[in-house]
Amino acid sequence: MSQQDTSRRDTQGRNKIALVGAGNIGGELASLAARRELGDVVLVDIPDKEGVAKGKALDISQACALDGFDARITGTSDYANIRGADVCIVTAGVPRKPGMSRDDLLTINLKIIRSVAAQIKEHAPEAFVIVISNPLDAMVYEMQKVTGFPKHKVCGMAGALDSARFQHFICDELGVSTKEVQTLVLGGHGDTMVPTLSYCTVGGVPVTQLIPREKLEAIVARTRKGGGEIVGLMGTSAYVAPAAGAIAMAGSYLLDQKRMIACAAFCTGQYGIDGIYIGVPALIGSAGVEKIVEVELSADEKALLAKSEEAVRGLVRDAERL
Ligand code: APR
Repeated sequence: MSQQDTSRRDTQGRNKIALVGAGNIGGELASLAARRELGDVVLVDIPDKEGVAKGKALDISQACALDGFDARITGTSDYANIRGADVCIVTAGVPRKPGMSRDDLLTINLKIIRSVAAQIKEHAPEAFVIVISNPLDAMVYEMQKVTGFPKHKVCGMAGALDSARFQHFICDELGVSTKEVQTLVLGGHGDTMVPTLSYCTVGGVPVTQLIPREKLEAIVARTRKGGGEIVGLMGTSAYVAPAAGAIAMAGSYLLDQKRMIACAAFCTGQYGIDGIYIGVPALIGSAGVEKIVEVELSADEKALLAKSEEAVRGLVRDAERL
């Protein structure tokens, strides 16, 4: 078998993780996957960026040699190299520029996601697919539609990131360890997301007992705009935390951890939502999204989730027209 062959048989029984898009998030994903020894990694990008994919693969491989992690990392523009992947994480697309909303990206990224989905369908039909490209909820819907994969084998990474942003702001406000704070953000990955106050706890204590209401509302507002804040500062989208969110999901799948992680999952009536992907708490294990966990919401949270559902449906309708 040639050196270039990255099929599963070539990887001595390790898992194979295909990263479609070798940009900012793709590079972070490769580094995290390798450093956690989740499996061998294939970075795929367009022919113009093949050098970037190969260069990042080498750079990360050399860092792994230094630090003693075993993973075979390769870069390519040939989708045949994702053959047999266990997990595909998709960041292919264009990131937000300052002043651009995630929805502005729809037209450009829709075209890209459709072509990527066709390649995944052909070369990695058994994969668990995690989409990160924005606008997330429409992109993951399209990915499932084009691949025709079972709905529980396709999901989107957003809730993990939005929940982590909320968690960080709470930790910062209280000056407590991140380990003590639990958060849950539901809904679409956009300004209508729903950070739930009823499920935000610090060492098991409801956050509403620790932070005054006004301050909490400011934190919720900052969480909703958390992505935009970073775009404004850096001139491009965040990439470290988004990668960490997707790796948590990939790890839960590959290691059958059954972690409960907020992600864009296909709803079939849960929370009164049917027929779309939207952010909900999901159990991720070796079967994929094994269960959507339904929790009680306050009247306010229910109303906000219904509004978010409408926003996601609007986006999906727009995508279907394009
Ligand atoms: N196949 C593979 N890769 C592609 C394709 C394609 N058809 N089309 C574009 N790409 C690649 C680009 O060449 C680029 O290297 O996707 C990569 C995207 O990387 P960045 O521009 O660095 O963007 P990144 O910050 O990683 O964000 C990617 O995730 O959070 C979302 O909004 C963000 O949609 C964006 C995506």
